[in-house]
Amino acid sequence: MVTEDTSCCRCCCSFIFTLGLTALFLWLNLKTNNPTCSIENFDVFVLNKTAPNFIIKNNHTIRYDLKLNNKNNKDKGIYYDTLNLTFYHKPNTSLITLGNATFDPFYQGHEKSTHRINTLDARGVKWENATAVTAKFRVELNTSVRFKIVFWKTKRRRLELGADLEVNDQGSLVKKKKKGVKLTSGATNNKGCYFELLPYLSVFILFCFW
Ligand SMILES: *[C@@H]1O[C@H](CO)[C@@H](O)[C@H](O)[C@H]1NC(C)=O
Ligand SMILES: *[C@@H]1O[C@H](CO)[C@@H](O)[C@H](O)[C@H]1NC(C)=O
Ligand SMILES: *[C@@H]1O[C@H](CO)[C@@H](O)[C@H](O)[C@H]1NC(C)=O
Ligand SMILES: *[C@@H]1O[C@H](CO)[C@@H](O)[C@H](O)[C@H]1NC(C)=O
Ligand SMILES: *[C@@H]1O[C@H](CO)[C@@H](O)[C@H](O)[C@H]1NC(C)=O
Ligand SMILES: *[C@@H]1O[C@H](CO)[C@@H](O)[C@H](O)[C@H]1NC(C)=O
Ligand SMILES: *[C@@H]1O[C@H](CO)[C@@H](O)[C@H](O)[C@H]1NC(C)=O
Repeated sequence: MVTEDTSCCRCCCSFIFTLGLTALFLWLNLKTNNPTCSIENFDVFVLNKTAPNFIIKNNHTIRYDLKLNNKNNKDKGIYYDTLNLTFYHKPNTSLITLGNATFDPFYQGHEKSTHRINTLDARGVKWENATAVTAKFRVELNTSVRFKIVFWKTKRRRLELGADLEVNDQGSLVKKKKKGVKLTSGATNNKGCYFELLPYLSVFILFCFW
């Protein structure tokens, strides 16, 4: 009788232990974090007051460097949908569209980062009277992402981010501590947990312990 009791207790203990491990495993695997998106460089050549006038006078090129970093997920890849980027000039409180860009869908492995470097032609802007020491701009990014968890793909999650940019009198981006400017979301929910995968995982785990 006594031996049966202890074996039952042991069984119960190991059951609880397994349950705990499973919960930990689920939590680690279903938690997802959005990628970090930042503007690393933003050169507005026409605003470069240190460059000789004849070089920059009619140069309406803006060159930017967008960085997408999947550093917040230890073991999840990210599938990006088509990514839309729009740049605005912000002479006052109103926004004037400078241009936009579209980047093709792609996959990014875990702990990988990538850059999208491109130019846009800001011919429409009246630069003559941009006399302020720092000129203000805004960038907005729209896309959807799916996360790769082991061999599942999660549902699409929309990513709508933006940031204000400032350009100094040498035509380059004002950075804090030499870091790029991070794009942030108006919404607060940057993290997600994919409970839609729970049924699959439970079946998977049941099979493992059968
Ligand atoms: C501005 O002009 C200076 C002098 O020609 C040059 O060294 C600098 O790289 C220019 N800045 C940008 C953003 O091109
Ligand atoms: C503007 O200047 C930059 C840097 O010197 C150069 O790469 C770019 O081609 C120029 N654009 C035009 C339209 O001349
Ligand atoms: C992103 O989506 C929001 C809401 O749908 C929209 O207001 C904004 O103009 C979009 N921006 C870009 C760059 O597509
Ligand atoms: C902001 O600046 C633009 C371009 O200079 C001008 O057309 C617009 O009227 C200004 N808006 C306000 C609210 O001052
Ligand atoms: C992007 O720019 C093109 C050409 O200027 C314009 O037709 C299109 O509507 C813009 N798209 C967005 C999302 O702003
Ligand atoms: C720029 O400033 C000059 C002199 O103040 C003025 O004559 C001109 O209309 C202004 N241009 C624009 C686009 O505001
Ligand atoms: C990106 O822009 C294209 C064309 O303007 C539009 O069809 C698409 O829905 C946009 N995507 C997002 C995520 O805003």
